[in-house]
Amino acid sequence: MCGIVAYIGKKEAYPILIKGLKRLEYRGYDSAGICLLNSGLNVYKCKGKVADLEAFASSKDISGTVGIGHTRWATHGEPNDVNAHPHYSGNEKLALIHNGIIENYDPLKKELVKRGHIFKSDTDTEVLVHLIEDVQANENLSLAEAVRIALTQVVGAYAIAVMDKSDPNVIIGAKKGSPMVVGIGKNEFFLASDATPIIEYTNEVVYLEDEQIVELRVGQDPIVRSIENEVMTPYIHELEMKLEALEKGGYEHFMLKEIFEQPRSISDSMRGRYHVQSGTVTLGGISDYEQKMANAKRIIIVACGTSWHAGLVGEYLIEDLARIPVEVEYASEFRYRNPIINEDDVVIAISQSGETADTLAALELAKSKGATIIGVCNVVGSSISRITDAGSYTHAGPEIGVASTKAFTSQVTVLLLMALRLAHKKGSIAESRFQRILASLEKIPAQVEEVLQSAELVKYIAGQYKDSRNFLYLGRGYNFPVALEGALKLKEISYIHAEGYPAAEMKHGPIALIDAEMPVVVIAPSKGSYEKVLSNIQEVKARKGKIIAVVTKGDTSAAELADHVIEIPETEEELVPILASVPLQLLSYYIAVMRGCNVDQPRNLAKSVTVE
Ligand code: M6R
Repeated sequence: MCGIVAYIGKKEAYPILIKGLKRLEYRGYDSAGICLLNSGLNVYKCKGKVADLEAFASSKDISGTVGIGHTRWATHGEPNDVNAHPHYSGNEKLALIHNGIIENYDPLKKELVKRGHIFKSDTDTEVLVHLIEDVQANENLSLAEAVRIALTQVVGAYAIAVMDKSDPNVIIGAKKGSPMVVGIGKNEFFLASDATPIIEYTNEVVYLEDEQIVELRVGQDPIVRSIENEVMTPYIHELEMKLEALEKGGYEHFMLKEIFEQPRSISDSMRGRYHVQSGTVTLGGISDYEQKMANAKRIIIVACGTSWHAGLVGEYLIEDLARIPVEVEYASEFRYRNPIINEDDVVIAISQSGETADTLAALELAKSKGATIIGVCNVVGSSISRITDAGSYTHAGPEIGVASTKAFTSQVTVLLLMALRLAHKKGSIAESRFQRILASLEKIPAQVEEVLQSAELVKYIAGQYKDSRNFLYLGRGYNFPVALEGALKLKEISYIHAEGYPAAEMKHGPIALIDAEMPVVVIAPSKGSYEKVLSNIQEVKARKGKIIAVVTKGDTSAAELADHVIEIPETEEELVPILASVPLQLLSYYIAVMRGCNVDQPRNLAKSVTVE
């Protein structure tokens, strides 16, 4: 978590840093700060959002063409003014911003205290800048060299940018385990946690690799060195991101914009990957590995949060269509439980950001055991997409709202295509079923558009239940993960307690919760275990629970029992999760807005969880 941005060039740095921090605010928003080089090295920082920082800095000298900025998600030390970044070194000649965790900060700090260093904050970051100062002073080194040597003593994850009052024309960046992109403009350079603060100035970027250090000086090419001091040749990528994708485009919140973008984002996820007329699916990114995947004795899916829910849908799809055993693991559990991983295993990581620390670490573990690792990521060039052997991007476009919406439906779309591709390769699917699913897939973007037309109805239902203290979400088969995802969405943005359950499991415990105060959202499409879900609805009704049912258009049986009905168009069972998740996203959105919650930046959360 935390967003970092830095600028060195001929322009005023302040507006670039502030705009960049606003773009990165999804990564953390409990405090923010900048350092500018003008009369000296001036740090302005405060608790709160970037807007609070702007207000704070309004009376200060914000001139200067070199600067660094940070938006924080607290790890070490509570969110307050002192713990906000940047942090000065003891002599205030250096200033540093950091995304990540310095795990051995405690012994380093004790050693530095012995050597006379005095610390002001509770952060691990301040220890790092003091360490760099110590190395620089004792060995009389340039900033780049001092940073490199200091980092050899560090255990943990970092993306850092450092400024030096004694060498005002340089910014040093370095990374390990946390992302860092270098933007290369004309006589100017940028550093950022992702490309969003850079895109309007240049589309030439270098993705720094782990344990690389970059030295940025105006008028010189960037110098990239490894931590072993080997000079590396940076590879320059061209960004394809569009600026409009980073703006709200007239919507009140990014989340709402992203929900309404789904007809397009789903089309983008499947564009060029399926051909109804020739009856084929092609996924270029995994073509060299699809035989290996088809032959795998098992596939392990690792992910977190919403991506984990998509992974569950993926499990049902791959097992059902391609007949390959699949296990879905929380990446955070998988990496620490000494799992059995073999060379003939295929591990698929699903991640919107491609930066989630636990998912990345789970993949690294799988790779070290010889498994083939495949990515399903949204962010092009992200860490997961770079360490995997192969993968398929979801192409949903930038997702800024902390609550994941369009990424989920795109992940499910890609997993469906993957399952179909593997099924075809293995001959495990009847041609008629394959064709039926493909034909239905083609209709999905238009059908999502149709579901979005029920927004006003969903808003009305949200108004009825906005003050509820608990919600239950029920679904079976392909729609059990949809229930989990619906509950997560509501929890994270409205702070209402919600649980997702397989509908039939309800009678093994959660049914005790049901009374007239309990809204129960049931995903009850006419395919799959429809009759059984109807019985589950009856069980809730018998206990006076309030039913909000997501049903297939034209349904009468579920509709008769339910207090509220939201219709989705008829489709194949395998595709229902895409359509059914959309009204649940809208329900959470409207409830959160009605409760006055900050939908795009819910409390305690960050979009990209780069700490474990
Ligand atoms: O970027 P990732 O997909 O790896 O992120 C995983 C989770 O952190 C993420 O899905 C999180 O649960 C979202 N806030 C859900 O809306």
